[in-house]
Amino acid sequence: MTHAMPAITISLMVDAVKWVKNPDGTHEVHLLDQRALPVRTEFFVCRDHDDMAKGIRDMVVRGAPAIGISAAFGVALGAQSFLRKSLQDAFVPYMEDVSSILAGTRPTAVNLFWAIQRMRPFWEKGSRQTAPEITEGLFKEAQRIKEEDIHLNRRMGGHGQELIRDGSTILTHCNAGALATGGYGTALGVIRAAVEAGKTIRVFADETRPYLQGARLTAYELVEDGIPTTLITDGMAASLMAMKKIDAVIVGADRVTANGDVANKIGTYGLAVLAKAHGIPFYVAVPFSTIDFDMSSGSQIPIEQRSPDEVTHIGPGVRIAPEGVSVYNPAFDVTPADLVTALITEKGVFKPSELRSKAF
Ligand code: MRU
Repeated sequence: MTHAMPAITISLMVDAVKWVKNPDGTHEVHLLDQRALPVRTEFFVCRDHDDMAKGIRDMVVRGAPAIGISAAFGVALGAQSFLRKSLQDAFVPYMEDVSSILAGTRPTAVNLFWAIQRMRPFWEKGSRQTAPEITEGLFKEAQRIKEEDIHLNRRMGGHGQELIRDGSTILTHCNAGALATGGYGTALGVIRAAVEAGKTIRVFADETRPYLQGARLTAYELVEDGIPTTLITDGMAASLMAMKKIDAVIVGADRVTANGDVANKIGTYGLAVLAKAHGIPFYVAVPFSTIDFDMSSGSQIPIEQRSPDEVTHIGPGVRIAPEGVSVYNPAFDVTPADLVTALITEKGVFKPSELRSKAF
């Protein structure tokens, strides 16, 4: 399907993951430090794969597609570090180590593993090329993954915005925007595309306890873009739905399984149940790189458990719970496919049950 050029184009002018070539020929990757947003704009400089692994593990960069893009650049940075070593026949086992270090950072978003796999043919054929040649090829491939992601998000936005009526109020959870992707966003991409199509859209953004991606990142993106946005705490969604203030829920995903089950930020499942109870459509905007056809259902998805400090403290320093209390802090939950009205993908809008037939 082709889409007419929008009258206006909207996209947050920030780059969550930026490839930088130094005058001396070395490469760096600059991650916009999302831990500091929206208060400070700082960059975390990655010079090797260990820096990148730390950046992903410590949430400098987050959001499934952005994690995948970062991991791809991490593979390239790993190859660059090998240039200082002389044992050429050690390159392939070394790159296996690089890949497994990056794969060990966060377990839930499948884009991480998808991107590492996509980089593999570039270093496995190592015997026919020098390490510097392979490194160049890896950086170019990582950049291709990023650019493709932006393109896919715009296609997804084009398909998804057709579902959104002029004057709609959309509820979103966590951050599935430019910061979580190569650019433009998945769920926020659909909202941006609807605005670009000339529709008047209002957004309610869940703050997204405990890590506050909604308050810190989604609200930041939408305010920067001038899209009318109201921030709410997570517990406020139910009463807004009961008051008929929400026309649709749109979220992103970290992994969708072959049957259409959706792992996304903790709290997503509750929103899907609420949406069903109130007769509100619940959409998941997701690129095919987030769909794991090797898993038959959501019960197989590994769910990351994170530090208790994220629940007992606000930010790095302010304690809000007593010492000694036990804490449960899963980063994601699984929404069963039957609660999902439709998956918005770059290939079109599908019911979860149609997904398997779209695996071309
Ligand atoms: O823990 P995070 O911030 O990496 O979790 C991010 C989410 O859950 C997003 O909703 C998801 O990755 C989709 S991003 C397009």
